[in-house]
Amino acid sequence: MEITQTILDSEQIKDRISELGKQISSDYKGKKLVLLGILNGAFIFLADLARAIDLELEIDFIRVASYGDGVSTSGTISLSKKPEIDLEGKEVLLVEDIVDTGTTLSWLNEYFSQFNPASVKICTLIDKHERREIDVRVDYVGFTLDKGFLIGYGLDYAQKYRNLPSVHAMEG
Ligand code: IMP
Ligand code: MG
Repeated sequence: MEITQTILDSEQIKDRISELGKQISSDYKGKKLVLLGILNGAFIFLADLARAIDLELEIDFIRVASYGDGVSTSGTISLSKKPEIDLEGKEVLLVEDIVDTGTTLSWLNEYFSQFNPASVKICTLIDKHERREIDVRVDYVGFTLDKGFLIGYGLDYAQKYRNLPSVHAMEG
């Protein structure tokens, strides 16, 4: 596998996150919003998104344990890190790096309803369509892409390349 072209550069990402932040700030005005980042991939996106949101929000992280082959997710999902703040009555926004098959987010969407939140919505930096298996509703999308394996800006290949400021394709 090698890094090929740049798909999203850091300026594009910054501009789009600023738009998403304004949209979220206006949609959730006066409400109790909790950003729940999905580790590890979403840590950089969440850090920038949170600073683009003008609300008194709470931030927590969860970690999903799934048994995949490194480039995709299998159907077996559990949480290896649960949220530590009380979600009851709050608006929950799950923050993800990329939606691929949709398996992870549709499972999480259902899982979080047990905590009686006011709502559960999804925000992803990238919505990638080619391999979608489950028709999950994604409420806020940074960028829609058809295909490719992407790294950078939080996205990894074998835990590497998360620190790259732009998103690149990997091929090979
Ligand atoms: P899903 O359950 O198939 O939607 O999988 C989503 C998860 O798979 C993401 O949170 C990523 O961890 C991983 N993933 C899917 N596509 C890519 C990619 O192009 N680059 C890096 N990770 C990916
Ligand atoms: Mg992930």
